[in-house]
Amino acid sequence: MDLIMENTADQPIPTLSPIVQTHNLAKQFGKFWAVKNLDITVYDGDIYGLLGPNGAGKTTIIAMMLGLVHPTSGSVHIAGLPVLKERKKALQFVGAMIETPAFYPYLNGRDNLYILGSLRQKISRTRLDEVLDLVGMAAHQHKRFSTYSLGMKQRLAIGLTLLHEPKLLILDEPTNGLDPHGTVEIRRLILKLAKQGHTIILCSHLLHEVEQVCNRLAILNHGELVTEGSIEIVTSENNLESTFLKLTE
Ligand SMILES: Nc1ncnc2c1ncn2[C@@H]1O[C@H](COP(=O)(O)OP(=O)(O)OP(=O)(O)O)[C@@H](O)[C@H]1O
Ligand SMILES: [Mg+2]
Repeated sequence: MDLIMENTADQPIPTLSPIVQTHNLAKQFGKFWAVKNLDITVYDGDIYGLLGPNGAGKTTIIAMMLGLVHPTSGSVHIAGLPVLKERKKALQFVGAMIETPAFYPYLNGRDNLYILGSLRQKISRTRLDEVLDLVGMAAHQHKRFSTYSLGMKQRLAIGLTLLHEPKLLILDEPTNGLDPHGTVEIRRLILKLAKQGHTIILCSHLLHEVEQVCNRLAILNHGELVTEGSIEIVTSENNLESTFLKLTE
């Protein structure tokens, strides 16, 4: 009897479920195409790097994923839901940070989270405690926002995106302007969030960071996708920096 054949037949075929899919996505501002015919897929559990030089179209893509910018053509689906037609439903799965949000400088971190989080939905005291702890801000929650370091501000901003327990987190340059300590803290936080089951899209110019946290990535140039795949495949011939420089010349 062929045991291997029997076992193989019993094995479920592993399937990767897409969390975000863009199809032929494009955005034109006047005569300028900021994003062209973009097909990318972010799978459940990915830490997905969205890379490209300044002006490559990363933030525009994120804005289209969030329904903030209307695509000229094409579509974005989140958890199978079309963002254009079912924005509210699709975005209930999503927490996003594009630059640091405006916090109240004279309020403390906890009150800021509570007030800004409540604009979206009711926030329980327990959830506030959980999130402050998760982003390492519990010890600083009663200090005024204006006294925080940039790293603390960024962690609070990530906390704000987490309050409603989103499946997908989209972080546009979360380490922008941070010193190496702040950068390492955000890196650890991203890895912790991924371990807890969040899928993450990370836009960053810090290729060293991307190399350390991302399992898959896309590189864009002038609004076009030049490569997408697992980090091992994309960097199979060279390290990420050389690959990036070569593909975005
Ligand atoms: N509202 C707008 N109107 C006109 N042009 C725009 C608008 N938003 C973005 N663009 C242009 O689209 C291109 C892509 O911009 P985008 O901000 O998406 O790039 P990016 O990859 O996020 O760059 P960076 O790394 O600097 O953040 C740029 O040339 C930008 O000037
Ligand atoms: Mg940008």
